[in-house]
Amino acid sequence: MKSLALKRVREIKPYQPGKPIEEVRRELGLRQVIKLASNETPFGPSPKVLKAIVDAAKKVNRYPDSGCFYLRQALSRRLRVPGNQLIFGNGSDEIIVLAIRAFVHPGDEVIIARPSFLIYDIAAKAAGAKVRSIPLQDFRYDLDGMAAAVNQRTKIIFIGNPDNPAGTYVSERPLLAFLKRIGKKILVFIDEAYFEYVLAKDYPNSIKLLKKFPNVLIARTFSKMYGLAGLRVGYGVAHADVIDILNRLREPFNVNSVAQAAALACLQDQAFYRRCAKLIESQRQVLYRDLEALDLRIVKTVTNFILVDVKQKSQNVVRRLLERGVIVRDMGFWGLDTFLRVTIGTEKENEKFIKVLREVL
Ligand SMILES: Cc1ncc(COP(=O)(O)O)c(C=O)c1O
Repeated sequence: MKSLALKRVREIKPYQPGKPIEEVRRELGLRQVIKLASNETPFGPSPKVLKAIVDAAKKVNRYPDSGCFYLRQALSRRLRVPGNQLIFGNGSDEIIVLAIRAFVHPGDEVIIARPSFLIYDIAAKAAGAKVRSIPLQDFRYDLDGMAAAVNQRTKIIFIGNPDNPAGTYVSERPLLAFLKRIGKKILVFIDEAYFEYVLAKDYPNSIKLLKKFPNVLIARTFSKMYGLAGLRVGYGVAHADVIDILNRLREPFNVNSVAQAAALACLQDQAFYRRCAKLIESQRQVLYRDLEALDLRIVKTVTNFILVDVKQKSQNVVRRLLERGVIVRDMGFWGLDTFLRVTIGTEKENEKFIKVLREVL
């Protein structure tokens, strides 16, 4: 088969997921494997969420509620935005894909940072867009560089806030100045997958920005702090007109019923999840100390993962860690040949990671 569209598809570098624990166990014959590779929380669902999952599982013979009525109602109340300014997705990945499907056509341009979350690049290229990727400056967004890359064909600018893999964020003032400079014709997609972990005082309240900037689309997820990565549920918040367009393009049953029930229960069990986030926060400090004691360079993060410069080819270090039952992510694919990204785990997991890393180095 030969066609321009297929040629384009073949040029896309496939997404590289973190290796599943079971696969590593099977392939390497290891009994104990820990996964610190996909920015998941190490904590399972709270007892209340687990109960909601079990209850919902009993009714999976029925199609899910296409409009996510109860989840929409709860989130609308929590965020203080009307229900018609919300859209739910099969993970926030789907919100990214929907935005591109709606607003980007072959020949259009999309601006992203480099390195950044891979799906922006993959989904934009799949739509036939040209991707302009603007290098981070000292692991932070170069908003001037991004604004300078705008032209007539630019349709979406992606801002991962905080972004993956750097773990850094864009603060309120520069974000505001950037939005003013960009104008209202280009969609600015603010991806806040990790926002629940951010404690910084100057982190923008993006929901407030929606009143002034109808071209902003915010995406969030239940995959990270809320720990529902395996169920797939995320959401977008934007002007009702933007949501209406996305809504027309989504599949009718894109969020399954168990995921809807679990997400709703997460919102109702904040205390549990705040405690989990606090544990991650204190473990972040422990990992900083231990990694620095190994004389490694770290990028200070506001998330549940840390970018670490191991000062040698990280591919080898990551492989040796894997052979000893610790899965982390090699950053070579992102062009960071001496870096790995480690997700902050439980105290025990982090201790094992540091112990094994010390041996490997
Ligand atoms: C920056 C960022 N955005 C979005 C996502 C997608 O998360 P999900 O589709 O599970 O909601 C991820 C997941 O790794 C991410 O790192």
